[in-house]
Amino acid sequence: MKKLYYLIFILLFSTAVQSAEKPPHAAIASAHPLATAAGFEMLDQGGNAFDAAVAVSAALAVVEPVGSGLGGGGFWLLHQAKDNRQIMIDGRERAPLAATRDMYLDSQGKAVPKLSIDGALSAAIPGLPAALVHIAEKRGRLPLSKSLAPAIRYAKEGFEVGARYRLMAGFRLKALLNSNAAAKVFLAGGKVVLPGFKLVQKDLAETLEAIALHGREGFYAGKVADKLVKGVRAAGGIWTQQDLDEYKIIEREPIQGEYRGIKVTSAAPPSSGGIVLVEVLNILSGYDLEKLGEIDQKHLIIEAMRRGYHDRARYLGDADFVELPIEQLVDKYYAAGLRESIRIDRATKSAALAAAVSDKAGGEDTTHFSILDREGNRVAATLSINYPFGSGFMPPDTGVILNDEMDDFSKKAGEPNIYGLVGGKANAIEPGKRMLSSMSPTFLEDEERVAILGTPGGSRIISMVLLGILDFAKGNDPGSWVSLPRFHHQYQPDVVQYEKGGLDEKTQTALSERGHLFKEINRSYGNMQAILWDKKHSVVEAASDPRGEGNAQVD
Ligand code: DON
Repeated sequence: MKKLYYLIFILLFSTAVQSAEKPPHAAIASAHPLATAAGFEMLDQGGNAFDAAVAVSAALAVVEPVGSGLGGGGFWLLHQAKDNRQIMIDGRERAPLAATRDMYLDSQGKAVPKLSIDGALSAAIPGLPAALVHIAEKRGRLPLSKSLAPAIRYAKEGFEVGARYRLMAGFRLKALLNSNAAAKVFLAGGKVVLPGFKLVQKDLAETLEAIALHGREGFYAGKVADKLVKGVRAAGGIWTQQDLDEYKIIEREPIQGEYRGIKVTSAAPPSSGGIVLVEVLNILSGYDLEKLGEIDQKHLIIEAMRRGYHDRARYLGDADFVELPIEQLVDKYYAAGLRESIRIDRATKSAALAAAVSDKAGGEDTTHFSILDREGNRVAATLSINYPFGSGFMPPDTGVILNDEMDDFSKKAGEPNIYGLVGGKANAIEPGKRMLSSMSPTFLEDEERVAILGTPGGSRIISMVLLGILDFAKGNDPGSWVSLPRFHHQYQPDVVQYEKGGLDEKTQTALSERGHLFKEINRSYGNMQAILWDKKHSVVEAASDPRGEGNAQVD
């Protein structure tokens, strides 16, 4: 009898825990209202967060062609509720097999300006189409014909472009004009389109339909593949059919760390995001930040960022090609050693850590979305074609704008990329290698709360996510994480960068007395999309960065 009572108790208790483990609402935050709506369409049809992720990724490829797309790649961090497992889908682009270490250098060994940024030679082999198929088949419930339907509809019927599209089309006008197919789709008579312009993408709809019908083969084989390879080669690129045949999605273990009782899960290599975040948080965990004054806090955060980004430049690349000291970099004792080198009253000179190198401005695009479904599945995905409108090159009749992710490689030791990031051998170009990324889709968990967050922003992605994590640790909500004023240090250039209005004069004066130098970015940056599930109060909240045109919705 006693046993029976015991069994009933266990049963009741475990159902109670289980139902407490299910969120009361689903939520989606993405950079475009039509993409958020596409995700909810899947949830309404009985799909899970992974089906929604496929629909949102594909929709963004259509409605936000500035930031991501079939011609690019990304990282999808998944949390599978049924077995409490976290997986990173690595759909990062890889270098073509004909790529060589010095392919962007001239005969004197100098980097040729723009060669890794504009045009067909800057494009690496896309991973996004393979990732859509992989996620749908391995983790989703709905067929691609359903999860790609909203994207196909948006491409065929068209949608009104926003102010950001027009701004970025102007910024990339020259690159787009160099590609007849891209200019025809994205511009009007060779000029930036007028407000209210409806963007229709017939060829892209057909390419999406081929993927819906044939899966992977719809993009990496047959007619579409043929047009991609021919188009790239005719424009001076080096892709071959073998590149497309060999492209593979890799499921990887995410990077995990712990900060003040918060479990942090983020992107593994070939992204530097997870490692740098955990290293910086480990350094900061030795201080009681909240008990310190604002200037001390900022000083320590900047010094920790400097050291994290320094190790990024020194050590990180594609773990399938080079050995990375990951265990060391995420180790608490290693961080304690770095902490020893920080003085509270003085900025460390980056040059004292290693030779000085570069000074370049930051990035404009890429995209992030966050999803939570009612089963407790989660997705944090950051997707990219790198620079706004990627390479600006579209192979004729495909509708696919190609990435210029080759620029994320270190073209030459110490030569900064478009985000001013430097690197060395670990991130040198090799055939088939994946270029180092900063994309940091992230989950946070403590006993009471779960968070899903991430943002675009080139090298500044990691520091933005870091500031978001520190704000989560303070107990603040997603509305606060996404709108925080932003500052950043990436080791080189040795300046604290901050967005317009991000650091007031008083703070700057106090920090400059400790030896910090400053550079204002003359606009705001980032486009964070975040979700919070507060288990204790059974509340779900979502927020979209006020700097962007996105939409966060709880249902
Ligand atoms: O993978 C990376 O780190 C870059 N290609 C991301 C570019 C980016 O975020 C541009 N955006 N604002």
